Amino acid sequence: MSGRVRVGIVGVGNIASMFLQSIRYYSLTGSSSGLIHSRVGGYSVKDIEVVYAVDVSRHKVGRDLGEAIFAKPNQVPRFVDVGLTGVVVRMGRVLDGVAEHMVEDFEPAQAREPTLEELSRELTEYGVDVLVNLLPVGSRLATRFYAEVAARAGTSFVNCIPEFIASDPEYSKLFEESGALVLGDDIKGQLGATAVHRALASLVAMRGGEVVESYQLNVGGNTDFKNMLDVGRLSSKRVSKTMAVATTQPRPEEYVGRIYAGPSGYVPFLGNTKVSYIYIKASGFMGLPVTIDVKLVVDDKAMASAVLVDVVRLAKALRDRGVRGSPWWASAFYFKYPPRPARSDEEALVELYRRLDELGIDVEPRREPEWLRSSRG
Ligand SMILES: NC(=O)c1ccc[n+]([C@@H]2O[C@H](COP(=O)([O-])OP(=O)(O)OC[C@H]3O[C@@H](n4cnc5c(N)ncnc54)[C@H](O)[C@@H]3O)[C@@H](O)[C@H]2O)c1
Repeated sequence: MSGRVRVGIVGVGNIASMFLQSIRYYSLTGSSSGLIHSRVGGYSVKDIEVVYAVDVSRHKVGRDLGEAIFAKPNQVPRFVDVGLTGVVVRMGRVLDGVAEHMVEDFEPAQAREPTLEELSRELTEYGVDVLVNLLPVGSRLATRFYAEVAARAGTSFVNCIPEFIASDPEYSKLFEESGALVLGDDIKGQLGATAVHRALASLVAMRGGEVVESYQLNVGGNTDFKNMLDVGRLSSKRVSKTMAVATTQPRPEEYVGRIYAGPSGYVPFLGNTKVSYIYIKASGFMGLPVTIDVKLVVDDKAMASAVLVDVVRLAKALRDRGVRGSPWWASAFYFKYPPRPARSDEEALVELYRRLDELGIDVEPRREPEWLRSSRG
């Protein structure tokens, strides 16, 4: 399969900046180092093109996307020269995207807000294949609004935030009927806290231990973390992060109140560096205790973008093969709160490859363990 993956972005924040710069970086260098997959369904990273963008900030609306990604309060450094893209950031609908304590950061523009019909017409005009939702946490109404914009246009939707869209059967049906697909919910960073926490909790279960209690405390210094200071916006984030870990265990429902995972503080000088403290108390042989304490330090926006460059290509490749609705097996490896969770990321990856093989969609390189590949011939 050749051609382009035409992407639209809702929320030109720090992930959008890293995503755009990473497309340029991998196109210029020809490197595939650091990518989960260099090719997905015949698409390489250089085939991704951002052709449409929506925001509400006066610092971004009306500007070329190549400039808007560096406008305040974004703080991803300039890694590569993106230049002017020819894509002018459109005004969106504010709804609940801007929390009261974030007004001075996001500074909504005093511009006319478009209707649902106007935005979905634009998606069709610009030939957007995949619309990516990068709104602040707690954007419940705004996420549903943009999901409906996409469904109306028959455009696929990738929901990177902890609002339940891909995992909601109503939205799955909506996208099925529109002939498009939805992947989500809440992107799971490449080597982020959730991926590492899940791997450790899976290991405990696989080696015959039992997780007794566990927490994952996260601090960071960007608008994402500042926005999450409003606990009223966090309920779905806590569910998403906690269930991502609980579902690695044999009886996930027993972990309510025994696993805590969520944002835990805003430390401005950290910028996009995210620091996670993961603690697991397990019961081992003869009931004797085992304690695991891990400190993880990552660039939070690189973690998200590494997954995003895979997921937009996957959404396009699936659509090329006529897949519609909310394919749980396409979301389980990449998102924290998929429609149906897998017990481990390894299990999710093996299921993804099995389904892609059935559809004749190639990925390179294959990341499943060598022994599993050879046992399947
Ligand atoms: N590792 C990660 O970074 C990671 C992992 C999982 C989920 N997420 C989520 O992804 C989302 C995006 O993260 P980010 O760091 O890019 O956020 P950000 O704070 O840098 O950017 C948010 C952008 O949304 C814009 N916005 C606000 N309301 C809007 C509206 N109604 N319409 C259009 N635009 C609007 C803001 O002006 C801003 O440009 C967040 O919800 C974050 O929690 C991030």
